[in-house]
Amino acid sequence: MPRNDLDAAWMPFTANRSFKAAPRLLSRADGMLYWTPEGREVLDATAGLWCVNAGHNRRQITEAITRTATSLDFAPTFQMGHPLMFEAASRIAGVTPPGLDRIFFTNSGSESADTALKIALAYHRANGQPQRTMLIGRERGYHGINFGGLSVGGIGANRKQFGPLLGNVDHLPHTHLPSNRFARFQPEHGVELADALTGLVQLHGADSIAAVIVEPVAGSTGVLVPPVGYLEKLRALCDEHGILLIFDEVITGFGRLGTPFAAERFGVTPDLLTMAKGLTNAAVPMGAVAASEAIYRTVVENAPPGIELFHGYTYSGHPLACAAAIATLDIHRDEELPARARAIEPEWREAVHSLRDRPGVVDIRDAGLIAGIELEPFAGRPAERAARIMQHCFDNGLLIRTTADTIALSPPLILERTHIDRIVTTLGEAISAATA
Ligand SMILES: Cc1ncc(COP(=O)(O)O)c(C=O)c1O
Repeated sequence: MPRNDLDAAWMPFTANRSFKAAPRLLSRADGMLYWTPEGREVLDATAGLWCVNAGHNRRQITEAITRTATSLDFAPTFQMGHPLMFEAASRIAGVTPPGLDRIFFTNSGSESADTALKIALAYHRANGQPQRTMLIGRERGYHGINFGGLSVGGIGANRKQFGPLLGNVDHLPHTHLPSNRFARFQPEHGVELADALTGLVQLHGADSIAAVIVEPVAGSTGVLVPPVGYLEKLRALCDEHGILLIFDEVITGFGRLGTPFAAERFGVTPDLLTMAKGLTNAAVPMGAVAASEAIYRTVVENAPPGIELFHGYTYSGHPLACAAAIATLDIHRDEELPARARAIEPEWREAVHSLRDRPGVVDIRDAGLIAGIELEPFAGRPAERAARIMQHCFDNGLLIRTTADTIALSPPLILERTHIDRIVTTLGEAISAATA
């Protein structure tokens, strides 16, 4: 490809200079596989970007999109509606945790995070507690890159270029404890880290806090699985102090943990739940927030006549995205994808933990069909070790994802034993090759 063809695009979350010097391009996909423009096969161990949960290029989804595009290219959803939006919302409400059945559409995970935070603020105002305006996130949390999500997020590198962000925000400590190294699924230590919320309540006053937002399993920071009892404790403390609990399920939703949402796997139901990615199998951008009936009723029924929530996006409930979401949910139901993920999870776990003796591996974490493999960084050259492993894998037909010096794996849920073997073999060789 001539150099000029690469110059115009300013790539997101990418080292533009080194990428454009040595591009890694994908031009076709099907099932568990990508192909490069030269026709080289690449096994997808990341479901695109944690999003193609049902595998690539599913005909049912692409046909639904095509059909819709030729009959209703767009319809506004401000003061107007179209049937697919209501059908999609009802279908989503059919898989969200019981009670979270009011669905607000967005176009991405970032928009879902900001929407959930704004709904939390609007709820307290409608509920006669307008002073509850503080938002609590968590160190190392990721809630996208818009100002709200970034402010409650806790990844320093994502924040430092952009000034002070939102005020009136505080953070819980992260849950990455050395004593939990090589834990399988939920680590044993760290339930007490949820007690930090009590400290924040004492510091700021319970009646000033609107919401706590956490990822049930933190993904982008390098896969942090909640300690046993931790989410339950957060739920109890939020209830005690009248604080709303928001789960950001942008990566954990749609079967990734062997249940439709992680809330179900952990047995903890939030008040608001964000989703995106797997919702349309990533074939069309779409996000959503599921709110409890109580939140919806409080905001809507306490409002004067007219618009109740001054929030929305031109493309909220876009017809093509709704068609893709419905088709995706059909596939999840018909192929029992969450159950399928749950069934292969033990094999996945044992296979990824078999990498523990490879050079430089300091921790391995797993949850559902997610794995994080943390590496000792090369002295003075952070992230280089993982970047080398990623390139080695790509050159040898495997797509993985890295964040700093942690490798994050999140394959499509249609994964089979042969794929697991290929992932572990290629990745193991790449880890062994990256030693200095
Ligand atoms: C937990 C979480 N929230 C929000 C987002 C942001 O989603 P998007 O990139 O669609 O805006 C992500 C993306 O990875 C995520 O992992």
